[in-house]
Amino acid sequence: MAILIDGKQLAIDVRTRIKEATAKLPRRPGLAVILVGEDPASQVYVRNKEKDCIHCGFAGQTFRMEDCSEEELLALIERLNKNENIDGILVQLPLPAHINERRILEAIDPDKDVDAFHPANVGRMVVGKPVLLPCTPAGVMEMFHAYGIDLAGKHCVVVGRSNIVGKPMGLLMLREDATVTFCHSKTPDLAACTREADVLVVAAGRQGLISADMVKEGAVVIDVAMNRDPETGKFTGDVLFDEVEKKASYITPVPGGVGPMTRAILMQNVYAAARHHMGLDTEEE
Ligand code: GUN
Repeated sequence: MAILIDGKQLAIDVRTRIKEATAKLPRRPGLAVILVGEDPASQVYVRNKEKDCIHCGFAGQTFRMEDCSEEELLALIERLNKNENIDGILVQLPLPAHINERRILEAIDPDKDVDAFHPANVGRMVVGKPVLLPCTPAGVMEMFHAYGIDLAGKHCVVVGRSNIVGKPMGLLMLREDATVTFCHSKTPDLAACTREADVLVVAAGRQGLISADMVKEGAVVIDVAMNRDPETGKFTGDVLFDEVEKKASYITPVPGGVGPMTRAILMQNVYAAARHHMGLDTEEE
């Protein structure tokens, strides 16, 4: 039976550390969150970010807009880029269809890009010395570290190749000397790949995709997905938890696994950005 990786508790530990460290800073770190439109899931995510900011002792500010033009949004970002009390800027995705997402994300000052979606931050992650890391993959790395899971020489298989999770996940594991394979919707025999994994990270967004017969005995299984079960309305991952936990050595639950860690790393990024803006050493390097 697998050991359950408790993302909820780990996230509490991370936030507690940040809160204590923040109390020693010369000023409060500031996070600006921009929400455009009425997407219900985004509303929940943004409220959670507001709560997390309060918890960590940050000055959080949310800009809620029913609708706006791309130019208006760019003007707001420009203002926030120049505001010295704002350390982090986060534009909640998805944006309405008439706004060019790439153009918006690339307008954010890379030093304030706490999602780490800007190409400058992606590049820094690839070549080393990043200050800001993409929240979900960095949250998974924190789980490996906290549970003493050493990736060096391990075969790590990532299912999914999104810019937000799959691609950066593989790169972060590569940085820790893993051998990394990426699988995706065009991989002809997914099960043959996943069965080879010492560490399997699944971020496909397809409920029930990974069954026990696709997992090697003793593998570490990380489920990044957050699917809403159409029958029960409950959140579920991509991994069939009940059968896979009998075979894995470590496994993350959904909910209560990767999700809370993503939120915690966002706060860590705001803290790191603030230290950087204050001219203090960054701890991540
Ligand atoms: N929407 C869903 N996940 C995310 C995320 O990690 N960052 C942003 N900005 N929007 C999201």
